Amino acid sequence: MKQEKPQKKGMARLLELGARKKGLIVSSCVLAVISVTVSFAPFIAIYYIIRELVIHFADLGALDTAYMTKLGWLAAGSAVGAILLNFLALMCSHLAAFKTQYELKLEYTAHIASLPLGFHSANSTGRLRKIVDENIEKLEGFVAHQLPDIAGSFAMPVITLVVLFVFDWRLGLASLVPIIAAYGIQMAAMGDGKSKKFMKQDQDSLEDMNNAAVEYVRGISVVKAFNQTIFSFRSFHDIITNYGRFAKNYTISFEKHMSAFMTIIGHVYVFVIPVIILIAGGADDYAKFALASVFYIVFSFALATPFTKLMYVSALSTQISDGIARMDSMLASQPLTETKNPKTTAEYSVSFEKVIFSYMSGEESETAALNGVSFTAGQGAVTALVGPSGSGKSTIAHLIPRFYDVNEGAIKIGGTDIRDIAGDYLMSIVGFVFQDVFLFKQSVADNILIGDKNASREQVLAAAKAAQCHEFVEKLPQGYDTVIGSGGVHLSGGERQRIVIARAILKNAPILVLDEATAFADPENEQKIQLALSELMKNKTVIIIAHRLSTVRGADKILVVDKGKIVEEGRHAALLNANGRYSRMWAQYTGAMDWTLGKTEVTANVRN
Ligand SMILES: Nc1ncnc2c1ncn2[C@@H]1O[C@H](COP(=O)(O)OP(=O)(O)OP(=O)(O)O)[C@@H](O)[C@H]1O
Ligand SMILES: [Mg+2]
Repeated sequence: MKQEKPQKKGMARLLELGARKKGLIVSSCVLAVISVTVSFAPFIAIYYIIRELVIHFADLGALDTAYMTKLGWLAAGSAVGAILLNFLALMCSHLAAFKTQYELKLEYTAHIASLPLGFHSANSTGRLRKIVDENIEKLEGFVAHQLPDIAGSFAMPVITLVVLFVFDWRLGLASLVPIIAAYGIQMAAMGDGKSKKFMKQDQDSLEDMNNAAVEYVRGISVVKAFNQTIFSFRSFHDIITNYGRFAKNYTISFEKHMSAFMTIIGHVYVFVIPVIILIAGGADDYAKFALASVFYIVFSFALATPFTKLMYVSALSTQISDGIARMDSMLASQPLTETKNPKTTAEYSVSFEKVIFSYMSGEESETAALNGVSFTAGQGAVTALVGPSGSGKSTIAHLIPRFYDVNEGAIKIGGTDIRDIAGDYLMSIVGFVFQDVFLFKQSVADNILIGDKNASREQVLAAAKAAQCHEFVEKLPQGYDTVIGSGGVHLSGGERQRIVIARAILKNAPILVLDEATAFADPENEQKIQLALSELMKNKTVIIIAHRLSTVRGADKILVVDKGKIVEEGRHAALLNANGRYSRMWAQYTGAMDWTLGKTEVTANVRN
């Protein structure tokens, strides 16, 4: 996607986004302006008909009926014409809107796809979908309906001014004053900051309510299991009641202003009539003055619709600007920079050099997830990361395939900074099995094929066998062609994990990052996964994270991570002898094993 930096805000940005289909939009606006202009014609025609009647009031036989018929046709014709022109304007604006919507959706989707993988772990798919779908649709509605309205409405004051002051400027002024007053009242209601506060509160409350609803539905099984129905329904109920109360207050707070506005705009003649009465005495030509008065009263009815529309447009544009701001905040997340001169590497050791990394930009260094991490995972060797929960192990793992970029320091593969390696190539040399296993709603075979799109069916089967999933896949209704997650086919955590391992086996990348690959497994499954992993790990540079210390005991190098730092480094035996952090962890671990498994581990405990 084009890297246009969105700088403009609100309405200007809205027009910028909407103005991609300039030709159509300009045609639509021009047609809308003509339509509004033409829509005044019937009132003027009717005025001339009345004038004819008034002039020949004493002698109706002298009425120029042909002239009046012509005016009648003109009134009817222009009324129909205005509708047709408006229809054409809307057709152009809809075409522009749909095309804009289509293009924007493509662009935003492409942009989302180009963002670093880390962006996707931080943003739920629900939120992204809302941003892209809802806001672009709002924009579509705006371009399709409001833009021509706005064009028409802006043209109208000009036409109104001209028309109002043609016959009698005093009556013109009398018509104008209530319109200005009505808008003044609206401005006062919007301008005191209350409206803005309400608007934001409204969005926030809506969000709360949506979240509570999702939570309620998601947690329904837990709620039932713990017999919490009434309690948890209450919190959901409260949020809805609160929102209801808030919305009512919100509406009521605008009640007075809104009523005043609508009353004034709809009854401009009420302000004109007293003026007519006041100045009638001083009129030189009564007939002329009477006619002008009639005109202003008739014309005042023509003012209500467009001015009301204009008012709604301004309210709606605030809402849309908010949506645009949300979309732009997403556009502001930049894809990771791709190097101009990509390098490759023939050696697959992974080294961290004084890496500092924070999930939040601009964060203090003390709260960084990684704070000066340096180590080398040798080519073809197994390097294990151990440490307490939240110490930064997964963060280290995620930085290797460049889910995020480091803030300071560097990560190198075979001596080359990963920022100097092309994204595709990096992906091809790093395989990973992470804590959060993700399977697509596709067949088992397709899910494994993600590892290597060009693999044959035989290769998929071989990978599945090596990953110890062949047995359970065979038992699925359509074997390897069973679509995961549909028709009641659900896999256990361990099974899902083994499919992801099969994917990694098929990919056969020289560097392998395994984060808690056995996390879901029961003892039998764990053994199977271990088997699968040992197959996968052959001759690879492996970086493995495991809570069960027994799984990493044989590693070539063990790194102990704590609070974003490497606090110990070495082989199992050496670390035990050092009597430091690792030996305490080991004692705790075997102590726990002792407690659960009994005899076999007691010997291990005694030996150490
Ligand atoms: N996506 C994220 N956004 C913000 N902070 C994060 C994110 N992921 C992790 N963190 C924070 O970074 C720190 C390190 O987390 P990390 O997931 O690396 O720990 P870990 O050692 O893998 O823990 P565990 O053993 O529980 O998996 C924690 O303080 C965590 O809260
Ligand atoms: Mg982790």
